Amino acid sequence: MPVLRNIGALARCLSSGAPGDAGVVSAAALVWDGATIRWAGPELELPAEFAGWPAEDAAGRLVIPGLVDCHTHLAFAGWRADEFALRLKGATYLDIAAAGGGIASTVAKTRAAGTDELRARCVSHLTEMAGLGVTTVEAKSGYGLTAEQELRLLGIYRSLASGPQRIVATLLAAHVVPAEYRDRRGEYVELIEQELIPRVAREGLARFCDVFVEESAFTVEEARRILLAGKRHGLAPKLHADQLTSCGGAELAAEVGAASADHLEQVSEAGIRAMASAGVVAVSLPFASLYLGVGPLPARRLLSAGVPVAVATDFNPGSAPSYHLPVAMTLACTLQRMTPAEALRGATVVAAQALGLNWEIGSLEPGKSADFAVIDSDSVDQWLYHLRPNACVRTVAKGRDIWRAGQPN
Ligand code: NIG
Ligand code: FE
Repeated sequence: MPVLRNIGALARCLSSGAPGDAGVVSAAALVWDGATIRWAGPELELPAEFAGWPAEDAAGRLVIPGLVDCHTHLAFAGWRADEFALRLKGATYLDIAAAGGGIASTVAKTRAAGTDELRARCVSHLTEMAGLGVTTVEAKSGYGLTAEQELRLLGIYRSLASGPQRIVATLLAAHVVPAEYRDRRGEYVELIEQELIPRVAREGLARFCDVFVEESAFTVEEARRILLAGKRHGLAPKLHADQLTSCGGAELAAEVGAASADHLEQVSEAGIRAMASAGVVAVSLPFASLYLGVGPLPARRLLSAGVPVAVATDFNPGSAPSYHLPVAMTLACTLQRMTPAEALRGATVVAAQALGLNWEIGSLEPGKSADFAVIDSDSVDQWLYHLRPNACVRTVAKGRDIWRAGQPN
């Protein structure tokens, strides 16, 4: 039942806060009991009942809610540095995909990898993410693309639930049409609808069902069928929408009541309006914009239309080969013109909303999970402006230390 005292700036990211308000309290204290936050506010106002609780010293640092990476493709084998070099010579993401590279090449490597190897790679990435202050990670399947292989990836995510972070699994069997179904794509859509979704739902292996809506992937009509089938089985819809071409993904997200539409570099005005009235969260993925040279996502237009904007890494071996969420947040500022406070809310309370978990995580308020990070900085602005390899010195998830600078993991 500790009290963290002498917090220089406590960024609470209140659920009820305005988009640009990180809810910062100076000279603050934070109290938690087991896995739950009991109190957060100015240290001078610490209620007497907590005065005798064991105290820890934050040394005047910044404390933020545990970061929520609400869009990753965590389980994959191999890397694709060769494509990085090809793109720098002028090949496009779609050219590479059309030539059999891209997602298809990671699918081949992932299918061939052993389950233990894939799991160990996930654990290694998650450990590094914990060191950056990340306490919740959404993880998509999508590099298996057969029923058994997709279930295997989701099974790995389930096994990671006993680890230090919260893992939220998403079925992304509709990532691309696998080569063996190229001439009978309708059958692949049917396999997802009729076999995979019911099994995933029955076994409780995922919370969300996602579809990549794009020229090189699935059409709006195919996506609608898959997302509605998911919904009938209790899997909430998410979309990879309007990344490379404006193809009606945002409009579909609004129509099916998606929890989020992600990417959106090419979103239309009508799509923004539809998302605003349907309450769909926009998930910005600045690494993908940076690496593919598309975008940026029009954060200012989305925010002024009333669409909440989350920030995530999109960690994957193709378009976003990094899980460094704080760097993605700095890029959300520089590329998307978000303020540091908006970027912090985007990677905490708004990201939690994109996962339907904002009642539990994403802000430092009594009753929420005791997930937070201590940052060696004196303000949110200073932290996201001064790009250091890592300014996080301590990460706590569900009230337990999961990482401390200078100590072995
Ligand atoms: O979100 N857009 C589709 N999926 C990933 C890319 C995956 C890959 O290239 O392997 C993305 O950017
Ligand atoms: Fe993605």
